[in-house]
Amino acid sequence: MNPIKTCIFPVAGLGSRFLPATKSIPKEMMVVVDKPLIQYAVEEAKAAGIERFIFVTSQGKTAIEDHFDSCPMLEMALRARGKVQELSLIEDIKLNPGQAIYIRQQAPLGLGHAVLCAQELVNEDAFAVILADDLVLADHPCLQQMTQAYSPLEGNMVGVMEVPYDHTNRYGILKTSQDADGQKIIAEAVVEKPAIDQAPSRIAVIGRYILNSQIFQHLRTQKPGAGGEIQLTDAIQAMIPRGLCGFRFQGQRFDCGTKEGWLEANMAFAYADPQLKDHLKAMLDKYHF
Ligand code: G1P
Repeated sequence: MNPIKTCIFPVAGLGSRFLPATKSIPKEMMVVVDKPLIQYAVEEAKAAGIERFIFVTSQGKTAIEDHFDSCPMLEMALRARGKVQELSLIEDIKLNPGQAIYIRQQAPLGLGHAVLCAQELVNEDAFAVILADDLVLADHPCLQQMTQAYSPLEGNMVGVMEVPYDHTNRYGILKTSQDADGQKIIAEAVVEKPAIDQAPSRIAVIGRYILNSQIFQHLRTQKPGAGGEIQLTDAIQAMIPRGLCGFRFQGQRFDCGTKEGWLEANMAFAYADPQLKDHLKAMLDKYHF
């Protein structure tokens, strides 16, 4: 049985890399093909058996709450017009009261601080974290792969992938023991955004975590790290004696916090959609791409 029932979604970030698009729209509401990023994240969590969805928000993020709420006017209008399919599309994404919890991160102090904001709401031994910017296209949803492979005895678990050396300064990077080829990688350390010439490997953490609740004790006393922010990675590092498992997931990850990654995600998700695939190919031909 999967013991992970709670997932935290840190959604307080400014999205400054996507201005002006994100001036009045949360970056997590950016659409890839036909769904906002945060909906992909919630659907992935649901597929992994998550039952409580904690969104750590900030000012200007109410569109996220609205997205998962009911919308009586729209529902009535669709029902009256017999638009059954459209109606089910918006009904399926509703989160029931009590299932979705919205709390505010009152100052932009970093990812570690955002997770700490949810501490009073996590009652279980372990919980998940999804960063909606990191979108994964996979046959089996990424977090589901992780919950199936998770063992509390191996300590915290992070989703990982290999990145080029010159990108290592953008990620949390694992220091690994000699055997780093398997699906599960035992990490000796993790370092947040190392200088490229000091990166201990090319194995980067992407925005999927299964964390033991003891992490809150470390986050409470965590000093600011890389970028002057309270880093989740540093608290994970402080828990290294209890273990850290890097999980190489199957699938393709897109960094939708950048324009390049977001564009690529749109292409890949459209290509994976049987109704859009041929159109996409024809379009690429038409414009000689
Ligand atoms: C965060 C984490 C970093 C991780 C990355 C994955 O960084 O701090 O360890 O590798 O997400 O996307 P951010 O992208 O928020 O700077």
